[in-house]
Amino acid sequence: MSFDEIAIAYDNAINWESRLDREIPFIIKSLKDEEAAKILDIACGSGRHAIELASRGAYVIAFDNSSSMIQQAKNFADSANSSPRFLILEMLEMEKEVSESFDLALCLGNSLALLNDWNEVEHVIRTVRNLLNQEGKFIFQTLNFTEIIKNDFRLFPLKRGYTPSGKEIVFGRFFDHDTNSQQTHLIMSSFVKTGKEWTVTSSKQKILRIQKENIEEILLRAGFNQVEFYSDYNKSSFVPTTSRSMIVRAQ
Ligand SMILES: C[S@@+](CC[C@H](N)C(=O)[O-])C[C@H]1O[C@@H](n2cnc3c(N)ncnc32)[C@H](O)[C@@H]1O
Repeated sequence: MSFDEIAIAYDNAINWESRLDREIPFIIKSLKDEEAAKILDIACGSGRHAIELASRGAYVIAFDNSSSMIQQAKNFADSANSSPRFLILEMLEMEKEVSESFDLALCLGNSLALLNDWNEVEHVIRTVRNLLNQEGKFIFQTLNFTEIIKNDFRLFPLKRGYTPSGKEIVFGRFFDHDTNSQQTHLIMSSFVKTGKEWTVTSSKQKILRIQKENIEEILLRAGFNQVEFYSDYNKSSFVPTTSRSMIVRAQ
């Protein structure tokens, strides 16, 4: 199962105006010159960040392994008159298709946690480091599993919206934490109304339990030497036991 099945629901579940208002200023402030910047957006989903950054003048390559996500991203880019380069590409194979050097790499929306194991995370982080120029930065956001497990956080609020063709859509997500195996799965369902009938599509995805200690160790081992942790895009302090989100800026 992948994000292919729930691509439209995912994009619909997010209030993009407020999300981009929160995130883009932090991203821009991490760049020396936003108009000359070269940015790589890893697991870009429906491409909203890439489109916004490209429309500000940055050169952006953005990729995702879900063809539905990339199709949506291209459609949104056409209507926004913005032109990032979108690729259908697997994160673990980015070095095969991407050979330029970047000022900034992004990986938002807990996407690193979708990799299968810590070796894959390390592989991606090392590849990112090799693709960044001398002062390049890697900004990524994940959920913080120290807090999530401590508080047994499981249920995300239900979201409702409309597909591009005007059908009502409801998107639900929850975590399934298994105490024996210490594994977490994310269960996602989208409900779409066609006429009077609802159809349901579900997907189940293993999620890595990313915590500050394990990710910091990998970043340092991969050669990043300045690593900052925040709990939001206003640079609020990150507190492992209370912060739900973890925003990392590594140089
Ligand atoms: C939660 S979405 C985040 C999308 C976007 N970055 C955002 O913040 O809205 C996770 C994305 O990661 C993509 N993804 C998951 N595993 C991937 C992989 N191994 N390689 C590339 N993309 C992947 C999914 O298709 C999905 O679009």
